[in-house]
Amino acid sequence: MEFSIKSGNPEKQRSDCLIVGVFDGGALSSAAAALDDASSQAISAVVKAGDMRGQLGSSVLIHHVDGISAKRLLLVGLGKANEFSTAQYLKVIRKSVDALPATVKNASVFLAELAASGLSVSQKVAQIAEVFLDATYQVNSLKSKKPDAIPLKKVQVFVDPAEVKEAKDALKQGEAIAEGVKLAKDLGNLPGNVCTPTYLGKQAKQLAKDYGFKVEVMNRTQIEKLGMGSFLGVAQGSDEPMRLIVLQHKNGKKDDKPVVLVGKGITFDTGGISLKGGAEMDEMKYDMCGAASVLGTFKSLGELNLPINAVGIIPTCDNMPSGKALKPGDIVTSMSGQTIEVLNTDAEGRLVLCDALTYAERFKPSAVVDVATLTGACVIALGQHASAVYSNQDALAEELLTAGKSAHDRAWHMPMWDEYQPQLDSNFADMANIGGRPAGSITAACFLSRFAKKYDWAHLDIAGTAWKSGKQKGGTGRPVPLLTTFLINRAS
Ligand code: BES
Ligand code: MN
Ligand code: ZN
Repeated sequence: MEFSIKSGNPEKQRSDCLIVGVFDGGALSSAAAALDDASSQAISAVVKAGDMRGQLGSSVLIHHVDGISAKRLLLVGLGKANEFSTAQYLKVIRKSVDALPATVKNASVFLAELAASGLSVSQKVAQIAEVFLDATYQVNSLKSKKPDAIPLKKVQVFVDPAEVKEAKDALKQGEAIAEGVKLAKDLGNLPGNVCTPTYLGKQAKQLAKDYGFKVEVMNRTQIEKLGMGSFLGVAQGSDEPMRLIVLQHKNGKKDDKPVVLVGKGITFDTGGISLKGGAEMDEMKYDMCGAASVLGTFKSLGELNLPINAVGIIPTCDNMPSGKALKPGDIVTSMSGQTIEVLNTDAEGRLVLCDALTYAERFKPSAVVDVATLTGACVIALGQHASAVYSNQDALAEELLTAGKSAHDRAWHMPMWDEYQPQLDSNFADMANIGGRPAGSITAACFLSRFAKKYDWAHLDIAGTAWKSGKQKGGTGRPVPLLTTFLINRAS
């Protein structure tokens, strides 16, 4: 799908379909009003007839309107003018895509002109690209019959002449984010027998080739040399070879300290000897979505070639039960030297991340952000609408929240007070890997914080946001928009 920015009179556009908005009560948006004038009130007639009342998300398609060069006109309901803000704007765009007939190959969108409280022109334009691509995403299923190609090929986004330059930059960012989102979705959706640690390593190498990143994909022997006893402990139960992936984008000033992104890459989480229940266990193929979002963000970063230094670190392996697997009560020695009593082998994410966090020290980072489908407790706390943010620096948490808000990939700041730390006490090692039932997402963050003392650090628990369950099961590509926006803001 190709996007472009244009300005001009809506009635003159030779397009398969124009998309314009009508408010609840029948008030026309300015593009709709211009079309109404050019067409001897064809739109007013539809409103008067009661066929378009402007309810949020409703739509009417009209063909061959006199005075209008385009073949069709899609009227979309905007809801009440005084309630029109971000959520309504996004819903209108999604409904527009859904309502487009499959015969439309090129569409002209007149929605960025709508004043939506809280949204800049840039955000409105970027969201058009992101939502159009999200809504037309085709799952990379392994069905023998491939789905038909999406007919929609060209999308023109109309803005005021004065806003063209700004809109073009925003469009570029929106498209880059959408590409990263797509990669993250694709990787997440692949089954565990395809998307293995080896496969993720190959993906990282491909990205490095495409965008000029430096890449290193380490195997067990190399990981042993690094002393990553905790990561090795998780991987030892699986026959699938483990990997430690390191990507580097060096496009900032030579001495600029890099931002390091760390992604949990458990390509399948059975729970290990602390085996999970069978229901929905298939969804644990998504336990590498942290890794997928780091790779996706690097894709966006490469597309935009942001002037920044960034490092991606991905510890990846399966979590399996076997005769070689970790047992509850086993004690491992992490790369940091701290010992960990593994009371539950299903709390494996923190065990692979802690060594990656120690490894991150060597890059003298300006900030480290780890991303992980870490706890079921996070899903209970926040559901699917917000990722959890934890940080040892309030300013860094704030930066991530702001990025998430402007990218509409929202996060929520959770507490990580010292009072929670004793839940991790162990009788036999420096710490236990679980903190009991209360505050499960928080104690997981507390665990990680013990390995992130040497730099500004934040942790995103994306267990609720990375994929959807049920009928629409599938990866969401989150939090690529948040992370990319965070990097864009850091680069400027
Ligand atoms: N990958 C899971 C977390 C998860 C579970 C994410 C369900 C999304 C949906 C993680 O490795 C895990 O199993 N965590 C345990 C930790 C517990 C044993 C302390 C959990 O949340 O139950
Ligand atoms: Mn687990
Ligand atoms: Zn897991």
